[in-house]
Formats: sequence, structure tokens, C-alpha cells
Amino acid sequence: MALSGFVVVLTVLILTSALLASSSTPFIVLHGIGDQCENQGVTEFTEFLSSWSGSQGHCIEIGDGMWDSWLMPLVEQANVVCEKVTEMKEFSMGYNIVGLSQGNLIGRAVIEFCDNGPPVKNFISLGGPHAGTASVPLCGSGIICMLVDDLIKSKVYSDYVQAHLAPSGYLKIPTDIQEYLEGCKFLPKLNNELPTERNSTYKERFSSLQNLVLIMFEHDTILIPPETSWFGYYPDGAFSAVLPPQQTTLYTEDWIGLKALDDAGRVKFISVQGNHLRISEDDIKKYIVPFLVDDKPPKLLHQKSSVDTGLLAFTMDPWK
Ligand SMILES: *[C@@H]1O[C@H](CO)[C@@H](O)[C@H](O)[C@H]1NC(C)=O
Repeated sequence: MALSGFVVVLTVLILTSALLASSSTPFIVLHGIGDQCENQGVTEFTEFLSSWSGSQGHCIEIGDGMWDSWLMPLVEQANVVCEKVTEMKEFSMGYNIVGLSQGNLIGRAVIEFCDNGPPVKNFISLGGPHAGTASVPLCGSGIICMLVDDLIKSKVYSDYVQAHLAPSGYLKIPTDIQEYLEGCKFLPKLNNELPTERNSTYKERFSSLQNLVLIMFEHDTILIPPETSWFGYYPDGAFSAVLPPQQTTLYTEDWIGLKALDDAGRVKFISVQGNHLRISEDDIKKYIVPFLVDDKPPKLLHQKSSVDTGLLAFTMDPWK
């Protein structure tokens, strides 16, 4: 009797776990340049988000990680992610993307370019150079940086640099707009900037997001200007006052659906203190976690359980 009671409890627990795991929307984390999934920071970040949201998180690696993040053109990096998420059966009902820095451009390219990929529901972007950046990411010393320096000294919009240095795909020098539009292989396509090559499919896909969370770091010294995290940027032709997102042509002419999303109240412009990607635990819980918890969690989530398991405790959502 006691034993069969135990078996029933155990079965209920197992079923409960299976239900919880299968009913919440999974998410992926796309790391920034020079980083990789196996590094402690990204691993912990992904694990924290998973436990705090109760949703399964996966850091998706591209190639060998760090080197490829620097050297593989971003269209190719996005293709790798597109293939991986398409193969993951647990994503077929949709998934969320959390992007870190350069990883945001890969994430957005997956949303816009990935044919037959599973639907992306929420896109949470931390410090993404969405409108470009006017300076190469700070590098420090080391062999990669020496290589990068050499490449930058040659022409950044040349075919050679575009094919061998990922960040050249979103380096947008406001005083070289013509060269940028002609030579840059990635961002002009991603942002539908080329009048003759605008693709309405990109806009359709991007504007079908449920939520777009754009987190800007107020003291960001890596992204120039920091407002690029919100799609704000310098006006063409000058390093003068930064245009807020709503005053850029990308927004007013709605090249990618940012305005459509904003009009529908689905864009959250968030500003946090600190330098690039320095986000506090409180802000993570406030601005990221709620978007990783399903809108309509199964009733089970809110039922009181007499069994105190770590799993149930984690799936509670005390931050709403
Ligand atoms: C627009 O992009 C979609 C998705 O990648 C592609 O299937 C389609 O051929 C593109 N259309 C044009 C006109 O290039």
C-alpha cells in the first residue's frame, strides 16, 4: 500500500515534469563576438534564464565558437543557426531568441532570412548593433586583434574584408554611406536599406514577432552610438546628433516592420545603466525573464503543490 502510494506520487511527479518541460516555449541564446557557448559567462547566463523562467534554454554555437564569431560572414553564421533550429523538434511550435551584442544581428537574420524555420515568438536583444556601429569592437591585444587591425587598415567595404571579418558586415561609417551601401554585404540587406533590393518577406517575418525587447546600455563604450541598440543612429553623412529610432528612415518608411511592431505596442525600448552587456540580476528578472515565460502558462503552474520540488519552485513566476 505504502509502496503503491509512492509509485503514484512518483508517476505524478514525472508526468508533471514532462508536461512543464514540453509546454513552455524554449529559447536560444546567441553570444557575442569573441565569445563561445562553453565560456562560463554565457553558460551561466543561459542556465540562470532557464531556471528563472522555467523554459529550456540552449546556447547555439556557430562553428568552433570564438574564431568563427570573428571570421565567418554573418549571413553564413545565420545559415548555421537556421539549420540548427530547424532540426530541433522541440522548437516546431515556436521559440524565443535572446541575443547578446553581435548575436542579435544573427538572431534577426534568422528571423528574416530563415526559410522554413520554426516561428520566433519573442526576441530579446541586449546591446545589439541593429543600426550598425561606427567603430570596430574594442579588441585589446592578441593575435586576432593584430589580424583585425591589418584587415581594417585595408578597405573595410572591400570584398576581401567583407568575406573574412564578421563585424565588417555592420560597420557603418556615417561619412562613407555610399561605400557602405555598395560594399557592405550584411547590414544593408538585413535592414532592407537598398531601395532596389527591398524584400517584403523580411518585413513580414520581423513584424510578426510577439514582442521585441530592445535593451540599451546607457554607458556602452563598445557600440558607437549606444542608441543603435534601439535602432537609433547618426544621420547619413555626419557624426552629428544621433537620431532617435522613430526619426530614422528605416522607421518612418518602415523597411523592416519596426514601425508596425511599435504601432502595435510590441516594441519595448529599455534602457539600463552600465557598460556593454553589464546587466544586473534585477534587470534580467525584470526585462528578460517575463518574456521567456509563456503568456498562458498551463494552470498547473499556478496550482499549489504539496510536494516541494525544485522544479515547481522554479516555474513559479514571482516577477510579474
Ligand atoms: C525575399 O526573401 C525570401 C526569403 O529569403 C526569398 O524566398 C525570396 O526569393 C526573396 N525575394 C526576392 C525578390 O529576392
